[in-house]
This record gives sequence, C-alpha cells and structure tokens, in this order.
Amino acid sequence: MVITDGQDIQGWASLNPYSHRCAYDGVADISVYIDRNWRGKGLGSKLLQALEETAKENGFHKLVLFTFPFNQLGQGLYRKAGFREVGVYEKHSKLDGKWVDCIIVEKLIDENLD
Ligand SMILES: CC(C)(COP(=O)(O)OP(=O)(O)OC[C@H]1O[C@@H](n2cnc3c(N)ncnc32)[C@H](O)[C@@H]1OP(=O)(O)O)[C@@H](O)C(=O)NCCC(=O)NCCS
Repeated sequence: MVITDGQDIQGWASLNPYSHRCAYDGVADISVYIDRNWRGKGLGSKLLQALEETAKENGFHKLVLFTFPFNQLGQGLYRKAGFREVGVYEKHSKLDGKWVDCIIVEKLIDENLD
C-alpha cells in the first residue's frame, strides 16, 4: 500500500508473511515507512489505519511489528495505534555489525475471537 500527494510517493506499508506454518495464517508482520520529508504530519497513522482495515478485509486477526528500542518515532506510532508491547528479543538483529535487541508489539484486530 502506498500513500501519495498525487505525484510523489510519501510512504508505503505492507502486510508481510509472519510464518510459513499454517497455524499462524491469521497473523501478519507489518512494515510502515514514511519519506523523511513527510514525517510527523499524521501520514504514518493514516497509513497504519488503512493497513489495519485491509488486513481485516483479508481475514487477518492480528498484526505484529518488530522495532528497535531506539526507534522513538516507531514506538510513538504503534502506541498511538493501540499496539501492546509483548517483550524484547535480545541480540536479535545485526545492525552495522553489532547485535541489537528488538521489541515485539502486537494488536488484535478481530474483536470477536474466542
Ligand atoms: C515511524 C513512522 C512510520 C511514523 O510516521 P509519521 O507519519 O511520522 O507518524 P505520525 O505523524 O502519524 O505520528 C504518529 C506518532 O509518532 C510519534 N511521532 C511522530 N513524529 C514524531 C517526532 N518528530 N518526535 C516524536 N514523536 C513523533 C508521535 O507519537 C505521533 O503521535 P502524535 O502526533 O499523536 O504525537 C516514520 O517516522 C518512519 O517512516 N520512520 C522510519 C521507518 C520506521 O521506523 N518504521 C516503523 C518501524 S516500527
């Protein structure tokens, strides 16, 4: 999914496969990115909301997102969107040759789950 001003792409978001195991078919791992020139103007929130609607329409019951502990903007976005912090994977990703922790967050988007 992309967001544009009619000419340029301002940002994009995607529903990515969470696992190859069919038990997790209803879970989507998400990505959201807003062009640096367009950040802090509400576009990330708008895009995430649209992505959530698309996920519901396509039968997903949960969204998960992985983020770095130092990503303040990302944390602001998912908190505002009602995501819950699940925990922290230690030394989970390699960034510039160094192991970094990774925060896992989730949001149940189907209110009718048993
Ligand atoms: C994270 C990202 C998608 C947010 O998009 P955005 O359009 O800037 O976000 P919004 O304007 O909708 O703001 C959503 C919330 O983010 C936080 N935020 C946004 N800009 C901020 C800033 N300059 N300083 C502090 N917090 C900020 C706030 O909590 C904000 O809510 P508020 O406006 O009610 O205070 C964007 O910064 C980005 O593309 N970052 C790089 C990629 C990335 O980190 N993706 C997410 C991985 S978790």
